Amino acid sequence: MSNEELNLASLSVDILSEEQAKSELARLAEALLYHDARYHGDDTPEISDGEYDQLKRRNLAIEQRFPDLARADSPSRRVGFAALDKFEKINHSIPMLSLGNAFTDEDVTDFWDRVCKFLKLDKAPELTAEPKIDGLSLSLRYERGKLVSAGTRGDGVTGENVTLNAKTIADVPSVLMGDDIPDIVEIRGEVYMTKQSFADLNERMEREGKPLYVNPRNTAAGSLRQLDSGITAQRPLKFFAYAWGEMSEMPSDTQMGMVQQMEAWGFVTNPLMNVFDTPESLLEHYHDIEEGRSALPYDIDGVVYKVNDLALQTRLSFRANNPRWAIAHKFPAEKAWTILKDIEIQVGRTGALTPVARLEPITVGGVVVTNATLHNEDYIRGIGNDGKPLREGRDLRVGDTVMIQRAGDVIPQILDVDLQKRAADSAEYIFPTICPACGSKAVREENASSGKVDSIRRCTGGLICPAQAVEQLKHFVGRNAFDIDGLGDKQVDAFYRDGMIMNPADIFTLRERDTRSLKRLKDREGWGSTSAEKLFDAIDARRDIQFYRFIFGLGIRHVGEQTAKDLAKTYGGIDAFSAAMKALVGGDEATMSDLLAIDGIGSTVANGLKAFFSESRNVSVYEALLEQVKPIPTEQADSSSSVSGKTVVFTGSLERMTRDEAKAMAERFGAKVSGSVSAKTDIVVAGPGAGSKLKKAEELGVETMDEDAWLALVGQV
Ligand code: IVH
Repeated sequence: MSNEELNLASLSVDILSEEQAKSELARLAEALLYHDARYHGDDTPEISDGEYDQLKRRNLAIEQRFPDLARADSPSRRVGFAALDKFEKINHSIPMLSLGNAFTDEDVTDFWDRVCKFLKLDKAPELTAEPKIDGLSLSLRYERGKLVSAGTRGDGVTGENVTLNAKTIADVPSVLMGDDIPDIVEIRGEVYMTKQSFADLNERMEREGKPLYVNPRNTAAGSLRQLDSGITAQRPLKFFAYAWGEMSEMPSDTQMGMVQQMEAWGFVTNPLMNVFDTPESLLEHYHDIEEGRSALPYDIDGVVYKVNDLALQTRLSFRANNPRWAIAHKFPAEKAWTILKDIEIQVGRTGALTPVARLEPITVGGVVVTNATLHNEDYIRGIGNDGKPLREGRDLRVGDTVMIQRAGDVIPQILDVDLQKRAADSAEYIFPTICPACGSKAVREENASSGKVDSIRRCTGGLICPAQAVEQLKHFVGRNAFDIDGLGDKQVDAFYRDGMIMNPADIFTLRERDTRSLKRLKDREGWGSTSAEKLFDAIDARRDIQFYRFIFGLGIRHVGEQTAKDLAKTYGGIDAFSAAMKALVGGDEATMSDLLAIDGIGSTVANGLKAFFSESRNVSVYEALLEQVKPIPTEQADSSSSVSGKTVVFTGSLERMTRDEAKAMAERFGAKVSGSVSAKTDIVVAGPGAGSKLKKAEELGVETMDEDAWLALVGQV
């Protein structure tokens, strides 16, 4: 480094001039590239991880202060760049609001009438109609025509500063086009991912054996909120501009005019936006958009109507968080008719025989649907869980024309069957009484206490049933159990088929057996030395495993994640647990009553545990597994915490942590997390978008607080 560079490197980021920042960014880009090569390439790092980290952080801090100076070859855009641990906050000078909903045509005419009444207008005002994009909103601030910051909606007032990420989106101009651009322009709109990009991304995830993304919206949100903008840059995000925040000057006095101006400035706006002057024409446009919905390259979930005249918008203003001058007309769950081609029986981890409908592929709401759930044999016969007729008692047969419904992310359902189209020679579906995977008997158990016959038919083959064994393995390596990276469903299927992994304990001897094997993992198709090593490392990383994950991973019937946590907390460690299970099998009354005393554990769970540990095959796998892994004792809950013993419900969206993290934290402090609000609830933590649960809490007089207050309460600020 030259003397001049040395001096610059020691200056705090806050006081750098633009010129100095530029040369610092150049120096850091070069230095980081050099050290990356030492570290990754030839394995001879010259600086410590801490020093390396400092360089990266300095680079990012400068980029955040001078987003315009971020270089095309910026180290923060390279994958593998250490992420920030959280985004900075950004305050919206004008809050970002949400919209009220309409579900029926009548709701829309009511809205129109309300607007007229509020304004005391004789003549109906014009309204615009445009698709409601299913993405996430983003506010872009331009000062003197240059993009200076980008923020997510957050709670409407404070969002996250995602400027660097927004800059990687091609539809977001960094400089506005044209003359006479107001000094301050805040453009708001929706970030989204096209259906095609989403499908491509998931195809890649599947190839790499990684978990698939749920839908384009969540993926877009996850991509924009990446702390590593290098990852955002690799995701094909797009942006539609449709609203604004602070404007130092208004270039138009209508909604439509504003959107046209945005287009002139270089934004992409939605071509399906139009102006209407009667409720009838507005609704006609809605139905046109609804019909064309599945052919659009992106997901939409309704149509947004806005009063076109901005002076009228100002007069109408807001009620709570919603403008009186706009409403979102949501689409109903999508339905379609198709042919039920076949009924297949899947055998689950606990032996449940679940019928799945194979359908003639049909596009519903932009998604090709090929399967639907059929729940159980009664459902196929037209009998509901309550014993009452379903579909007026009409049964389902292979070859039938059926109506399917798809709502949001939910698995498609079969709503109805057209009997007129049923072939004369169709036959009633006969549900198998023999497991299709292993040939063991499949039975419907009778519930001992209620005397009711279970709606689910189960294979009695236990671990000799390959379907149960494979599903059990998938459960074991799953995200909430052992969470082994690189061991997804596909790999488990293949390893089981080839006899490499027959039970959970085998996973942990894979590396050792592989060294002696004639057919090494690295030589298998789709594998290489790096990916094989990575898998072995991922497996080794789970030899020390949280106790509840261990219990949950065993896949004991009726022992879900929460029950596993309750058991882990009660027994504290593996030795006490093993001893108790042994005593339980031996018929020890005291152990049984100890179990039943645990909050949330009843006879169903206790019998599930007893049945599992009475089966010698299970016990040998359990023991073999314990030779390989070490469950980490569960810390006894912190009873000194202010939330210890309380029942907490999280609702709405959380901004500072994931749901899983929030739940874990609450439990760490001795609280119990519940999904529904009742009189037993002590605290409701409500984030933006909280609805019925928050309302119920208020009605019941349950204490409510926001995420920040919650974090303060548990001392995590
Ligand atoms: S207008 C003051 N227009 O829907 C109202 N919102 O439910 C500003 N959205 O948070 C919003 N497409 O994320 C508007 N064409 C559109 C929209 C749209 C999607 C989202 C937006 C907003 C949410 C409200």
